[in-house]
Amino acid sequence: MQKKEIILTGIKPTGMPHLGNLIGAIMPMIKLANAAPAGQSFAFIADLHALNAVTDRHEIATHVREIAAVYLALGLDAEHTIFFRQSDVPEVYALNTFLMNVTPKGLMNRAHSYKAAVDRNTAAGADTDAGVNMGLYTYPVLMAADILLYGTDIVPVGSDQKQHVEFARDIAGYFNNIYGDVFKLPTPSIRAETGLIAGLDGRKMSKSYGNQIPIFDEPAELKKKIMRIITDSKLPEEPKNPDVSTIFQLYTHFADAAAVKDLRARFESGGMGYGDAKKILFEAVNDYLSAPRERYKELLSAPDKIDAILAHGAERARAAAAPILDKVKKVMLG
Ligand code: TRP
Repeated sequence: MQKKEIILTGIKPTGMPHLGNLIGAIMPMIKLANAAPAGQSFAFIADLHALNAVTDRHEIATHVREIAAVYLALGLDAEHTIFFRQSDVPEVYALNTFLMNVTPKGLMNRAHSYKAAVDRNTAAGADTDAGVNMGLYTYPVLMAADILLYGTDIVPVGSDQKQHVEFARDIAGYFNNIYGDVFKLPTPSIRAETGLIAGLDGRKMSKSYGNQIPIFDEPAELKKKIMRIITDSKLPEEPKNPDVSTIFQLYTHFADAAAVKDLRARFESGGMGYGDAKKILFEAVNDYLSAPRERYKELLSAPDKIDAILAHGAERARAAAAPILDKVKKVMLG
């Protein structure tokens, strides 16, 4: 019999992702979720985790729907994967409360995100904990609750989240030591680095640099951005190095192997200007994203439909969570 492996991942409710997010995180996650056996993959939008920084409920609710629509539009199958909004599963608040009592305070002191806040404060000559609320400080406990609540085995995440998953494993271990074998020990599965996805100016594509290409820009806007990609000043007739070109690098993620080989040859032989290369890139990106873009718009114009999909997911998530939470309650409180 095949081992019943549960995979789970959380998605932060942020604004429109860019091509770097799409290539590096979103598509790999959707592939993994769709490849897992039905009902054994969980994906949720971590709106409770947004609360330590965002106080505007409209902003959170809007971002939840947007990011849900992004994943659905790009092919996440919400029948196959249990797809829900974190705050719709109250069992997670309960487990969070229980886990607080087996989590050493010192573990939280070592969390990267908390330490980064402390370092910023120290550098600014402010109080160590200035601006740090308990939501931020105990973020890893809630994340452990997210993971342990469903008997998760594998947590696919980016390398920035590795420590959090290790903490969840530690917390499960502390708990099991005291109360017996209740939790499975989760393992992080760190996404292979796709290589740095460069933005318009050649630096890593990132909102903080303002050099991003949002995934669902309309074609005219998408084209305008792609035409702005910075290149060197080689003339059309000169041979060009595809391996240092942002245009070529992006193209490899949106075109098939034969087309990629063809563009490489055109770079290397000379005779093609960067303007033409950009047009080829635009066509490939636009072909890839035009159907998802339409699905995205359709979904966002029917927010009730998104809410219903997430509500259905929450029902299934609650059903999976209930027996585990019951067991925790029993072993802790009788
Ligand atoms: N902290 C994750 C992030 O910032 C989101 C997240 C919340 C998560 N809970 C999770 C990821 C549980 C994996 C498992 O991206």
